[in-house]
Amino acid sequence: MNRLATIMLVIASLGSARRALHAAEHEFPPVSQLSPHANLPDPLRMFDGRRVDTTEQWRDERRPELKGLVEFYMYGAAPPAPHGVQSRIERTDDAYFGGKATKKEVTISFDPKGAPEIHLLLIVPNGRKRPAPAFVGLNFHGNHTLVDDPTVALPAVWMPNGTPGAVDHRATDAGRGKEIGVWNLEGSIDRGYAVATFYCGDVDPDKPDFSDGVHPHYLPAGQTKPGPHSWGTIAAWAWGISRAVDYLVTDEAIDPRRIAVVGHSRLGKTALLAAAMDERIALAIPLQAGCGGTAPSRSTVGESVRQINDHFPHWFCDTFKEFNEQVERLPFDQHSLVALVAPRPVLFANAVEDQWANPAGQFAVLRAAEPVYRLLGVGGQGVERMPEPGRLVGDRLGYFIRPGKHSMTRQDWEVFWDFADQHFQEANEK
Ligand code: GCU
Repeated sequence: MNRLATIMLVIASLGSARRALHAAEHEFPPVSQLSPHANLPDPLRMFDGRRVDTTEQWRDERRPELKGLVEFYMYGAAPPAPHGVQSRIERTDDAYFGGKATKKEVTISFDPKGAPEIHLLLIVPNGRKRPAPAFVGLNFHGNHTLVDDPTVALPAVWMPNGTPGAVDHRATDAGRGKEIGVWNLEGSIDRGYAVATFYCGDVDPDKPDFSDGVHPHYLPAGQTKPGPHSWGTIAAWAWGISRAVDYLVTDEAIDPRRIAVVGHSRLGKTALLAAAMDERIALAIPLQAGCGGTAPSRSTVGESVRQINDHFPHWFCDTFKEFNEQVERLPFDQHSLVALVAPRPVLFANAVEDQWANPAGQFAVLRAAEPVYRLLGVGGQGVERMPEPGRLVGDRLGYFIRPGKHSMTRQDWEVFWDFADQHFQEANEK
């Protein structure tokens, strides 16, 4: 049953792959000097107007430039991958879900000393011949809310309003298992997938100050908050997902070539950014991510750039606020994030009653990313119109909308598995 195993494992093999994750430092003009674009800007046109016609130009020039643009004007640039990434297996249980799975709780730490630790809950299917494909993503309220398991560690950090069982912003036992219907962990095991998740507040509590989480540990001397082009909370969360991937690629139970990122809403925005920035992530599923994620910033439907910046000023860098009344000056839109993921598969999943997240606008975003997929020689959306609710469509660019409201449900996972199966062949091969 439960084994207390504490294994220090220095993560090697990260050198060049990790350095390659980070865009070169870019300098771009002030927002007032950007030319307006009424429509979604062409992802295959360089900032200086040149066309991108070859895969080499895409890979060597435009892709790095786009990464730089989205960091500079919107999410802020995250620091390079940290040194000293280490993992410690705190607990394992190889009799999970009636013996179908093994649970591991893994603490991931990194330099500088004193930086927050990530507490990863990893559940892998037992008895497979090959390493398992895995989903990785952040959760809103702590690992303990997702399973019926009194041994899972409670988060020790600040928890937001709405956290089940929390008292004075601290997690308590009363929250255990209260969000079991959100992450379909046992179903994932039955479909042959491992799942890795951690509480987003491990990396940065979701509140508008930069005094906690990872930010203070990476501030240049004399600064008390990130600079105007430096990482906001969503970029920090995405960076945290990359730290979980640092661990997952070293775990022999996991197939490092089949890691999919998933997330709901603000954590879906994060999932898309993580996949855009980290090419080790093989597939992305942002669910109902909306403005600042999967919906176009240039849209009058649902949440606007001004609204998201006013309500959640910490999510993006300060420069993004300059677009509140002039979104048409953005030199990219959210299809550029999808383009950065190309040629890897992306699924946008939605709900009919969640118009705040602009499901129709999201369909248009996928469409606008398609030319990059075509340039890279793979299929894109493959359909002209939004499908009726309940039908998954698309090739590398998948789209799904179901009846109902803004939420992540056990049924949503069936679509996630179907989409991942399409692209991760042999996912269910034992
Ligand atoms: C708010 C916010 C959205 C966000 C959502 C969520 O509704 O306006 O941008 O996606 O919260 O994260 O649940």
